[in-house]
Amino acid sequence: MAESATIVADQISYEDLYARWEQQNWQATALDFTVDRQHWHNEFSDLERRAALWNYALFFHGEDAVADNLSPYIDAAPREEQKYFLATQQVDEARHSVFFGRFMREVVDYSGDFAGLLERTRPELTWGFRKTFELLDEVADRLRRDRSRPQLAAAICLYHLVIEGTLAQTGQHFIEDYLTERDLLPGFREGMHNVARDEQRHIAFGVRMLYDLQREDPDCRHAVAELLREVLPYSVALFIPPRFDRRYTEVFGRTVEEIFAIGAASLEQKLRAAGMPVEELPGPPVMPLGLTAEERARRAVKLIEAGVLGAPNGSPRRDRETMELLFDFVARTIDPRAANGGLAVQWEFDDAEPWFIRVQGGEVRAEQGRLESPDVTLAMSYDDWVALVAGREDPRKLLVRRRLRPRGKLRSLWRVARTLGR
Ligand SMILES: [Fe+2]
Ligand SMILES: [Fe+2]
Repeated sequence: MAESATIVADQISYEDLYARWEQQNWQATALDFTVDRQHWHNEFSDLERRAALWNYALFFHGEDAVADNLSPYIDAAPREEQKYFLATQQVDEARHSVFFGRFMREVVDYSGDFAGLLERTRPELTWGFRKTFELLDEVADRLRRDRSRPQLAAAICLYHLVIEGTLAQTGQHFIEDYLTERDLLPGFREGMHNVARDEQRHIAFGVRMLYDLQREDPDCRHAVAELLREVLPYSVALFIPPRFDRRYTEVFGRTVEEIFAIGAASLEQKLRAAGMPVEELPGPPVMPLGLTAEERARRAVKLIEAGVLGAPNGSPRRDRETMELLFDFVARTIDPRAANGGLAVQWEFDDAEPWFIRVQGGEVRAEQGRLESPDVTLAMSYDDWVALVAGREDPRKLLVRRRLRPRGKLRSLWRVARTLGR
């Protein structure tokens, strides 16, 4: 384990986090939105209003969902200090939701109770958002049924590291930066600042908790890796603007790629701080290894634009560049150790060029073309392969329906499944 990881997690104590909560209390009902109202209606352009509303609606729904889903975490936490902190966090999340609700009512001019406000802003939610938060509901249910440490570790990883530490924190900094630079929405900005400070405590707690859980039970690392494989195909597409209209972020001075790169670096850093560097997680890599956060972000956005990752668009691109990026992604997320020395897999697509991947002595190579004698041939449509890589299809279902037709020795097929991790 990296020494720096130990130091980061050890610096955080549950008692100190609780004390900070008492000191940093604030009132969502006391913020003054008078100037915000005027800025919103007079200073913002139509596009800026649309873009900001989209982004703030994601936060509003996110805060509501995390407030609703925290109670099984409190029940499952093994230590009293952890339960007490989580109880403070649940209050925070309710307060955050109240804060965004006030903004919708008093600045945007939406009317109604919380259910009504949530309903009104629901059309703003992206595919990535809906899938990520459906999984949060599902993980909370799993935790209600099974309070074991691995289940709790996976749940904390999703809630505190992915949703709060990667998605929310990146969005908060983006919003705070442009509102500060342009001196806009003073009431909302003050609230965002308080929300971000609360989230910092929540994330620090998550890091410490995960660090403790994986020391107490080594199965936690498997559970965390599994969870990341499940959520990353969704969460990667959470902040894709409607119709991929890049102006939604650029109107506030950042490209989608810049924002994604900050999120990508943040997740890596938090996993490391929790004593679980991404490259040391068991099984196939949970994200492409050997790339900087910027490069990982750039490629992810390209694959989303091509209809490969993220929301299904019915017809993913199959040009040379897209397929190269796709197979490089696959090559970087397979587990060469499971290949047991060597493995050659051929893809025969009904509707695209053939590709192959060869694993030899720990090296992985992906290329367009045909191998003379592959260990395994996978006959399928390109669309199904894309859906499988993007986490939208289950390989077992494709097998049953004969949409995935593997040929090769049984032993090799088993190795392919383990190596590809899909
Ligand atoms: Fe929150
Ligand atoms: Fe939070």
